[in-house]
Amino acid sequence: MTATAPAGMLTTSQGAQYARLLGVGGYRGSRVVDNDEMCTWIDSSDEWIRQRTGIVERRWATEDETPLSMAAAAARKALDRAGLAADQVDAVICSTVSHFQQTPSLAVLVADELDCGTPAAFDISAACAGFSYGVGMAESLVRSGAAINVLVIGVETLSRLTDLSDRSTAFLFSDGAGAVVVGPSDTPAIGPVVWGSEPGDHEVIQTRPWEVGNPEFPYIEMEGQKVFRWATTAIADKARECLRVAGLEPEQLDVFIPHQANNRITDSMLRHLKLPESVTVSRDITHMGNSSAASIPLAMEALLESGEATSGQTALVIGFGAGLVFAGQVLVLP
Ligand code: UT7
Repeated sequence: MTATAPAGMLTTSQGAQYARLLGVGGYRGSRVVDNDEMCTWIDSSDEWIRQRTGIVERRWATEDETPLSMAAAAARKALDRAGLAADQVDAVICSTVSHFQQTPSLAVLVADELDCGTPAAFDISAACAGFSYGVGMAESLVRSGAAINVLVIGVETLSRLTDLSDRSTAFLFSDGAGAVVVGPSDTPAIGPVVWGSEPGDHEVIQTRPWEVGNPEFPYIEMEGQKVFRWATTAIADKARECLRVAGLEPEQLDVFIPHQANNRITDSMLRHLKLPESVTVSRDITHMGNSSAASIPLAMEALLESGEATSGQTALVIGFGAGLVFAGQVLVLP
């Protein structure tokens, strides 16, 4: 929609008063890798991995499953559930760090695969915060009138970015895609995004530059304890900030879906936030592992499918990771 300005002034766009999630869909890599299989590559144990992370098994993509195939599958489900056709999508935002092609973007390939027509399409690199970065941007696009319906997809094949001989990371990561459609709403349904970065800590989780001629594949490197401390202190404060800027008390929250990085991080955040016991808390990591940008929408879909959460409930989501970057907001579940 465009708002006509007084003569001589620029015409600007203006969209819906509010935005909301219209549908969510997910796709998990079909190969199940349990801790015993993981321990064929690293010196570890099922007991250690369960105790330190809560992970029992993780999902990896097979050779046939790619970021594109998984993103498209998740997006189709989200569109179906939103009751929208692919050509009603005005913008596609893909958050990924494992689309191993500089250009075209994965978002453009998804738009082509789904037959979306000619939407705006671009990727963002915000790692485990990518879902909330994308939803924050999509909400602004809808309210500004730059788009009516926006497809936001978080997708990763982290198993292909993981050094299987690195016992400090190998057991964590997984492959999958989660998508939501963000569109117009008559009522407020997406709280203000709380987002940011810690630029001074960019080496805490990183892949080395992809230098031409370098035979060493640039796998993920992580200082796990530093991330753990940051997540359980600064990020727990940011989660509280998400509630405050949305005007909610902890007692008014129904669901908590933190990035699925470690169940001990989730436990620590719960203590910090003092959420009531009635709040449903996602533990999707147990059978999925950490799928970075896909983890929150996948966890959301799982809670809705199992009936542990229902449409219309209020959920706090927060992502954090490589960058370091973080983002979260309060959402009404689709
Ligand atoms: O999504 C992106 C964000 N990423 C995260 O949020 C990850 C945050 N970090 C973590 O989740 C945890 O730091 C890890 C799960 C990665 C590691 O757990 P930790 O409790 O921080 O372990 P640690 O690195 O402090 O190591 C504790 C001990 C060490 O032995 P000593 O020195 O106490 O004898 C390690 O050598 O555990 C040893 N260790 C292992 N033992 C068995 C380290 N890795 C392993 C392993 N198996 N895989």
